[in-house]
Amino acid sequence: MKRLEGKSALITGSARGIGRAFAEAYVREGAMVAIADINIERARQAAAEIGAAAYAVEMDVTRQDAIDAAIAQTVGHAGGLDILVNNAALFDLAPIADITRESYDKLFSINVAGTLFTLQAAARQMIAQGRGGKIINMASQAGRRGEALVAIYCATKAAVISLTQSAGLDLIRHRINVNAIAPGVVDGEHWEGVDALFARYENRPRGEKKRLVGEAVPYGRMGTAEDLTGMAIFLASSESDYVVAQTYNVDGGNWMS
Ligand SMILES: NC(=O)c1ccc[n+]([C@@H]2O[C@H](COP(=O)([O-])OP(=O)(O)OC[C@H]3O[C@@H](n4cnc5c(N)ncnc54)[C@H](O)[C@@H]3O)[C@@H](O)[C@H]2O)c1
Repeated sequence: MKRLEGKSALITGSARGIGRAFAEAYVREGAMVAIADINIERARQAAAEIGAAAYAVEMDVTRQDAIDAAIAQTVGHAGGLDILVNNAALFDLAPIADITRESYDKLFSINVAGTLFTLQAAARQMIAQGRGGKIINMASQAGRRGEALVAIYCATKAAVISLTQSAGLDLIRHRINVNAIAPGVVDGEHWEGVDALFARYENRPRGEKKRLVGEAVPYGRMGTAEDLTGMAIFLASSESDYVVAQTYNVDGGNWMS
C-alpha cells in the first residue's frame, strides 16, 4: 500500500540533492509534490524527470511574498497542503576571526527565518483545512554541537532543532506533527562545495576532507540522499501521528542523542 496516497506535499530546495530524493520518494508513495526552489530552471527539470505528480514552483524562502505565493500555488494545484519539508539551506565555513555579518545574515535568513516563516504559512493553511498535517524540518548533526570553522551553520541548525521543539509542541493540538531529521554527511553537489571550502581553510587537496569524513562514519561511508528517504516518508505518513517535536539522527551512527 502506498503510504502518502492522495497527499499534497511541498518541499523547499528540492531541485537537487536531498530534497529532490524526497520528492521522488513521496511521488512513489502516491503524493503530489511541489518542487519549490529558488533555481526554477533546475526545479522544472527535476519535476519533468520525476513525472506528472511533481510540479515546479519558484520560491525564495527569504521572501514572505514568495512563501505565501508558493503555498497558494500548491493549494491551487493540488487542492490543499498536507506535508511541508523545510529543506532549503545554505552552508558556509570560516574561522571565527574571518566570519562576516553578510554570511551570518544570509544563512540565518535562509536556514532559520526561511524555515520558521514557511512553517508558519503552511501551518496556517493546515489549520484552516482542519485535517492536520506533517511538517519536517531539515536539521543536521551540525546542530547537535559546534564545530571549529562552522560556527554560523551550526548555530542555524541548532535553531532549527529548537524551532522544531517549540512548533511541535504548539501545533500538535491542531494534529500537525512537526519533527526534524538530522543527517550526518550526505554525498552530493552540496558536499562538493563543502569540500572545496575545507580544502581552502584547512589547506588540503580537494577530495581529502570528503574521504576523511566518510571513513569516520561508523557505518563505513558517507550517506546518500536515498539513505534518508525512509525517515522522510515515515515522518510524512500517518505512522508517525504520535511522534511530536523530535529530531531524528539519520547519520550512520555519527551522533547519539
Ligand atoms: N548534504 C549534507 O551533507 C547535509 C548534512 C546535514 C544536513 N543537510 C541539510 O539537508 C538539506 C538539503 O541539503 P542538500 O545537501 O540537498 O543541499 P543542496 O545544496 O544540494 O540543495 C539545496 C537546495 O536549496 C535551494 N535553495 C537555496 N537557497 C534557497 C532559497 N533562498 N529559497 C529556496 N530554495 C533555495 C538550492 O537551489 C538547492 O536546490 C539542507 O537543509 C542541509 O542543511 C545536508
